[in-house]
Amino acid sequence: MKNTFWSSQVQSTELLYYSRKEKFNKDNRNDWFKYFKIKNGMKILEVGCGGGLFTNMIKLYFPDCEVYGIDIDDNHIEFAKKRCAELKLDVKYSVADINNLPFENDMFDLVFSHTVVEHIPFDIFIKEQKRVLKEGGRLLIMRVDMIKKNDKPFMFLEDEIGELFSKLEYKEREPVAKYLEDPDKTMQRLSEYNFKNIDLKFERIVYYSPDTQPNRKKAIAQIERNYLTKLTNALFCLERANNGDIVKEQMLDLLEKQYKERLRLYDNKSKIFDFQSSIMIFISAKK
Ligand SMILES: C[S@@+](CC[C@H](N)C(=O)[O-])C[C@H]1O[C@@H](n2cnc3c(N)ncnc32)[C@H](O)[C@@H]1O
Repeated sequence: MKNTFWSSQVQSTELLYYSRKEKFNKDNRNDWFKYFKIKNGMKILEVGCGGGLFTNMIKLYFPDCEVYGIDIDDNHIEFAKKRCAELKLDVKYSVADINNLPFENDMFDLVFSHTVVEHIPFDIFIKEQKRVLKEGGRLLIMRVDMIKKNDKPFMFLEDEIGELFSKLEYKEREPVAKYLEDPDKTMQRLSEYNFKNIDLKFERIVYYSPDTQPNRKKAIAQIERNYLTKLTNALFCLERANNGDIVKEQMLDLLEKQYKERLRLYDNKSKIFDFQSSIMIFISAKK
């Protein structure tokens, strides 16, 4: 039987994919890609790969690497395979549980995850990743730091949109990030699993800041990616809410007006310096 729990209850595949595409792209790649420490020829696995944004990107830049992605959600893997075929890349995707990885012992040079560790009990999260890593292979755990930031999103119609969101009624909402811990606790646990060279890095990634872009093409691309993330988020929330139909038209209309206003301001050369960022935590260790 198909498992579509994550894509139907927590985040749709499209929302996952477009929100990642907004955050991690070729313009800010220097800020985050370095933490993967990839060399050509490596065997690499991503666990909980969602729509496959990272794995596709790795294969694109390091075509001689053998790249694998697993996720428990059938819809995510179906999407990842389709996107990979469209990009004419050869990434090996499969539906699998992190607790039972379909790979031999000591197979990978790098095993990584992005925003997965906080959703799974640590012993289950780590046991199989350690098994499939080569001796001396590298584990990379990425997640977002939830601390308060001083971002300044584009505020036009934002209160009106927020008010519509607050009207949505859900049957029940799945609690997420049930196993969120401070980084020191994660490092302590890695040490108990005999990982070596445990390391911690923080990096703030600015992924939306149209007025500081070097040219119009890049600025417009950011405004469009931002709109796409907001739109896919709204569509997912509307679909899951009991009363989504009542506010749908108004919500989509406001989002489109907000997007068009941002484009207009940009083309009008009215600088407002709105920006959005994410503080990333990178924990790495060697087996
Ligand atoms: C917050 S999402 C992150 C997805 C992807 N890493 C990204 O950042 O776009 C968490 C992912 O973990 C996957 N997941 C949850 N439990 C899992 C398990 N037991 N085995 C494999 N994947 C799992 C979900 O299906 C979901 O795709």
